[in-house]
Amino acid sequence: MVATIHVPVLVREVLSMLVVRPNGNYLDATFGGGGHTRAILENISESARLLAIDRDPDAIERGKQLAAEDSRVEVVQASFDQIADVSRRNGFEQFDGILFDVGVSSDQLENGRRGFSFQKNGPLDMRMDPTDGKPASEWLNTASVQSIATVLRKFGDERNARLIANAIVRARPLSETQELVELIDRVCKTQEVNKHVATRTFQAIRIHVNDELTQLRQGLRNAFELIGHAGRIAVITFHSLEHRTVRRQFSQWVDSSIPARMPIRGPNKGPMKIVERGLAPKRQETERNPRARSAMLQVVERVQ
Ligand SMILES: C[S@@+](CC[C@H](N)C(=O)[O-])C[C@H]1O[C@@H](n2cnc3c(N)ncnc32)[C@H](O)[C@@H]1O
Repeated sequence: MVATIHVPVLVREVLSMLVVRPNGNYLDATFGGGGHTRAILENISESARLLAIDRDPDAIERGKQLAAEDSRVEVVQASFDQIADVSRRNGFEQFDGILFDVGVSSDQLENGRRGFSFQKNGPLDMRMDPTDGKPASEWLNTASVQSIATVLRKFGDERNARLIANAIVRARPLSETQELVELIDRVCKTQEVNKHVATRTFQAIRIHVNDELTQLRQGLRNAFELIGHAGRIAVITFHSLEHRTVRRQFSQWVDSSIPARMPIRGPNKGPMKIVERGLAPKRQETERNPRARSAMLQVVERVQ
């Protein structure tokens, strides 16, 4: 049994906005610990179906256990760019609801062997699917100062990007997370309040290694092809780059003259309407689950 420690965020909000047809077909594109999938299953009928995907093999092992207990569920290891193929191969032509809860899970973060955490020592890997692509160490040990600094700036908004990139190149080869943490700690003289000095660097490297923003854009485009009439796409994001990627894609689909949460009156120029522009968790939730603090939910509905 692969247990989960991940606490799902915005569950009630996702259910009320996403599960609009109890007999429908649903896609959970980020199974993780299965928290959202389980909540959706509790709120759909016996004839409904759910496809869950994740690129992480540990998440899939958890999902397979669930699929063995519940015949409504199919679980497949796949990434966002493969959603269309995987759906068709598993007999799902269209969905009534598609959920993305992006980023990494607590299960991934808390497992030192995966290399995502600056608080645990482990190999500098950071791949969600450890069989796909290069580990973070391989990239850090071969990339130029310029490309490392660009990634730290672009995906981590790291002010000391150049300083850290230079230090990485001088200290190579790096193989463990704590070597990187100590190096960042040494070169960064000032620290942000309530933020570990390595937070931004780790976030940036993880986004780069997993090509997360390209994946997110491809996932949304696939979801657009697969969502049925009156179906909804809900996306939970955790930092401004993700919030913005989703907002931009949604706004391309929507006629911005339609106010959020309003029925459409008159001709609609876009194929989607906004259901939720950016909902943050309530204080009770962030007190219980600090990971929820930066979460934001955006939802669209297909109208044409
Ligand atoms: C925040 S967790 C999801 C947690 C889940 N909603 C729950 O309730 O347990 C994000 C999950 O999405 C997966 N993931 C992130 N990007 C992905 C991608 N491009 N393709 C497939 N899975 C991805 C990660 O491996 C991780 O397991």
